[in-house]
Amino acid sequence: MEVCSLRLSFLLFLTPVDTATTACFNTKTGDIEDGPALDPLPVFKAVERDGAVYITGDAETIKAGRRKPNFKCTSTSGDKVVVVGGGSGALGVVEGLRNSGYSGAITIISNEGYLPIDRPKLSKALLTDLAKLQWRDEDWYKSGSVEIVKEEVVAVDFASKTVSTKSGGKFAYSKLVLSTGGTPRVLPLQGFKVLGNIFTLRNVHDAKKIVDSIGEKGKKIVVIGSSFIGMEIAVATSAGNDVTVVGMEKAPLERVLGEKVGNLIRKGVESKGVKFYMSAGVDKAEPSTTDSSKVGSVLLKDGTKLDADLVILGVGVAPATEYLRDNSVVRLESDGSLKTDESFSVVGLKDVYAIGDIATYPYHGPGGSGKYVRIEHWNVAQNAGRVVAGHIINSSVEPQFFTPVFWSALGAQLRYAGNTMASGFDDVVLQGSPDEGKWVAYYASGDTVVAMASMGMDPVMAQCAQLMQLNKMPGKKAIQDGLDVLSVGPPQ
Ligand SMILES: Cc1cc2nc3c(=O)[nH]c(=O)nc-3n(C[C@H](O)[C@H](O)[C@H](O)COP(=O)(O)OP(=O)(O)OC[C@H]3O[C@@H](n4cnc5c(N)ncnc54)[C@H](O)[C@@H]3O)c2cc1C
Ligand SMILES: *[C@@H]1O[C@H](CO)[C@@H](O)[C@H](O)[C@H]1NC(C)=O
Repeated sequence: MEVCSLRLSFLLFLTPVDTATTACFNTKTGDIEDGPALDPLPVFKAVERDGAVYITGDAETIKAGRRKPNFKCTSTSGDKVVVVGGGSGALGVVEGLRNSGYSGAITIISNEGYLPIDRPKLSKALLTDLAKLQWRDEDWYKSGSVEIVKEEVVAVDFASKTVSTKSGGKFAYSKLVLSTGGTPRVLPLQGFKVLGNIFTLRNVHDAKKIVDSIGEKGKKIVVIGSSFIGMEIAVATSAGNDVTVVGMEKAPLERVLGEKVGNLIRKGVESKGVKFYMSAGVDKAEPSTTDSSKVGSVLLKDGTKLDADLVILGVGVAPATEYLRDNSVVRLESDGSLKTDESFSVVGLKDVYAIGDIATYPYHGPGGSGKYVRIEHWNVAQNAGRVVAGHIINSSVEPQFFTPVFWSALGAQLRYAGNTMASGFDDVVLQGSPDEGKWVAYYASGDTVVAMASMGMDPVMAQCAQLMQLNKMPGKKAIQDGLDVLSVGPPQ
């Protein structure tokens, strides 16, 4: 594979709220080397003549400005890949397989009820329109001979290589990819399991319930949990509603971003009218005085009573692996995830892979030293899917490390590259002008910069992601001494 030498920050104007992000393409072929990206870029021959640049190429592609990947597959042979789950990881696998010319059969079994969606949009815009959310349309899967079965998987027999569904269906596989994502946690506290108008958000069904409950706006919304989903929902619902975020940490997003950066983001979100109760413990949910089947308020441990027409929980997810709980062959990790190697092959099993939110895998980014991590990012699930596709096609090819990146809509667009799970971080170097919404924070463990976050400085994020990928990220001291990471490149 060629060294990726073009990283683009671009905006996908697909929704009312832009989900600006960074992707990486091969400069010679235009192929996607690092998601999130929908299609590879078109490539044109360019010549300079008389002071002007002329491009040659297929007129239709030039007009459209984009090309569809080489996904088509009309007849399938022998092998069969079964993918359980229809999310980000599944997309990475099927696109990776077909783009590389895999001609075996591919089946996706998903219980979501519709085709794979762009899940991160749910909390950024509370979209419910499938036409806007679905990543690809039905014809596209058909064109690549990808069968989609809308069912729930209840068991896997690893000995006979068969997957069973709730309705009694049996699907044989030669390779199995598990990509079942996460199930949102709920609060085991009084009132939370029985009262109505308390929601979690993972799919379009959840988003619909929230949107219906908000109705014509003017609602009191209590968001419990001050991590990414909670913060994004607070921002997305802030216009026209009275929104309060309750968080356990001192600052929102503290576990990932540290207290200082968390408070910086809090300020921006407060400017949208969102109120915060931090370092707070939730005691119970109480029924509404007008309808005792629904929530009316949330009580905090310090006695504070927050009126609520609806409550949204953003208190984390658990790996969705219930269908393996009683399996005698596979052992789940204590958090319910599956342990894999670098190619995302499940440890102890043959021809079985696990990717995305259910995978605990050895991390080789800065500060990783092969320690096991489970990272809940869109880009990680999809890239892991591409790694698996490569491994299915040729298991001798070394799996390529990819830098985890994510983005978040928090009033302004946050970008993040790297990861701190394996190493933790003992220092944060903050640069830029937070008052102008332009800053970058470097997270260090010793002198190693293991992750970075930024707002308003996308090129810095793109550069760092690539430097981390190549193991060339400058150290903390160099950055403190004034090194501008953009001056290090372009990385080769
Ligand atoms: C609201 C929201 C916003 C997010 N925003 C961001 C963001 O901005 N940036 C970012 O990087 N990440 C974001 N994430 C996280 C990101 O979406 C996930 O990390 C990613 O989708 C994980 O991919 P996956 O394939 O592991 O799981 P998923 O995409 O969740 O897909 C899992 C699929 O498996 C199906 N499934 C589960 N169990 C079964 C079963 N037994 N049988 C059949 N099918 C089953 C599910 O219905 C689903 O289709 C967000 C997540 C949510 C919920
Ligand atoms: C598989 O990859 C290995 C290592 O790169 C290579 O030597 C081998 O030729 C490949 N096999 C096929 C069938 O392409």
